[in-house]
Amino acid sequence: MGDSQADFSKNVFLVGGITLACVLVHFIYKFFISNKENDQQLVHETESEPVAPVAEAASQQAAPETRPSGKAKKRTTWKTKSEEFSHPWLLKNLKGHPGNVLHMDFSANGKYMASTCDDGSVLLWDVRDLGQKEHKSLRVNLEFDHASHVFWTPDSKAFLVHTVKENHIVAYKIERKKDGTIGAAAPAATLERMHDDKVIGFGISISSNGRWVMSCSAGGDLLVRDLSGKVAHRRQVRVKEPHSARVSPCGRYIFVCGAAAGIESLDVQYEEGRLKRAGDGPELPGHAAGVYDLAFGMDSSYVAIAYMDATWKLFNVTGLLASGSGKAQLLESGRFSPGGQPPRLALSPDAQVLAVAVDSSVQLYDTYTGKLFGTIDNAFTGLVTSMVFDSTNKHLFVAGDKVIRVFHNVCGLYTTIGHCWRLMRGNETSATTERLKKTMAECKEQLERFNVKYE
Ligand SMILES: *[C@@H]1O[C@H](CO)[C@@H](O)[C@H](O)[C@H]1NC(C)=O
Ligand SMILES: *[C@@H]1O[C@H](CO)[C@@H](O)[C@H](O)[C@H]1NC(C)=O
Repeated sequence: MGDSQADFSKNVFLVGGITLACVLVHFIYKFFISNKENDQQLVHETESEPVAPVAEAASQQAAPETRPSGKAKKRTTWKTKSEEFSHPWLLKNLKGHPGNVLHMDFSANGKYMASTCDDGSVLLWDVRDLGQKEHKSLRVNLEFDHASHVFWTPDSKAFLVHTVKENHIVAYKIERKKDGTIGAAAPAATLERMHDDKVIGFGISISSNGRWVMSCSAGGDLLVRDLSGKVAHRRQVRVKEPHSARVSPCGRYIFVCGAAAGIESLDVQYEEGRLKRAGDGPELPGHAAGVYDLAFGMDSSYVAIAYMDATWKLFNVTGLLASGSGKAQLLESGRFSPGGQPPRLALSPDAQVLAVAVDSSVQLYDTYTGKLFGTIDNAFTGLVTSMVFDSTNKHLFVAGDKVIRVFHNVCGLYTTIGHCWRLMRGNETSATTERLKKTMAECKEQLERFNVKYE
């Protein structure tokens, strides 16, 4: 009896002890987790802060290099985690994609942006007010598939996606509410599978002379289809290992970039709704080493090209594309720092800023001087997948991981001042000079917010 009673009290003691330990562990756990959550909240706030102190960001970036190697590595990976990224030019992060963002496109009216991810959703964003705190989006789900590319039709009333598994092109019509926001989007038409391999370029032309869709596969199978799906033109491109294929903003030319032959161009002319000609187009300066990518400004006046020897060039193609003959006029060139993956380009609407995305970073160049203005380093854990300036010329949207980061076009403020200077030298009417002076003063003031001095 006595023994069993002693056993009993021993057991009670043991159970009590275990319970106490559990409670303690629980509290410790809770304490740490809630602290972590607080940290994350703080990080979010600094992320959305329009103008983070530059000095602080700079010292944070410099810190890992001065640490012992083991620790430095750990800290670097921690820094590049998408949740904790910060940069003085960062305006905000657009979140909501369940998977990795692959591509994005702005509607021609500048009001909407569509983005696609590898998880089967397309998000439609209202980008009229980037200052709003909660940036909501409308989610469109593609069933059993996901889209590699998304493009708005030029009338901003529909968008097209290129699906990866089925290799289909699907058109979605959008419904607009009275206040201009998008109410719904529904599939309206599907173009059947034509390519056997991955699509590397996709674009739409709805211009005065034709309505067609271009797609080009990694194997060089280039297709021009009517919106009904009928194949108007098909060719095997001469360019080896195509990297990108783009439709010019004027909607008449297709440019395919790749190794060896450089750039192949195709002139697509329609007449009364039917294909009249699809043949070689105006020649853009290629390069023996090959071409990675090209990008147009707002219209088909300027084109930037990234070559495989790590140089970029900006050309004036106003005359060349208007007449279809002549030569591209070289305006400026520079060098970019290459990375492990082929770079992608984005040219600002006014063609004054060239953004070169290399791996997870972005390099920004002043296209008038050819100089590097600044970089956005390690913005993602993965690669930059898509990059585009908005039509206002004020922001650069960069996609990677599950997020789209919106940056102030600080380089654009800088180049605008230089542009105004050059215009003033022309000494136009005093009214113009006044306007230019005002613009310059505004740009300088904004630059100061980013701790940048104009020299
Ligand atoms: C570009 O070319 C057009 C005509 O070809 C010309 O009028 C224009 O001034 C040029 N622009 C620049 C910046 O050189
Ligand atoms: C600008 O034009 C005005 C009037 O035509 C002239 O008096 C002035 O000297 C010019 N200034 C320069 C810097 O060329």
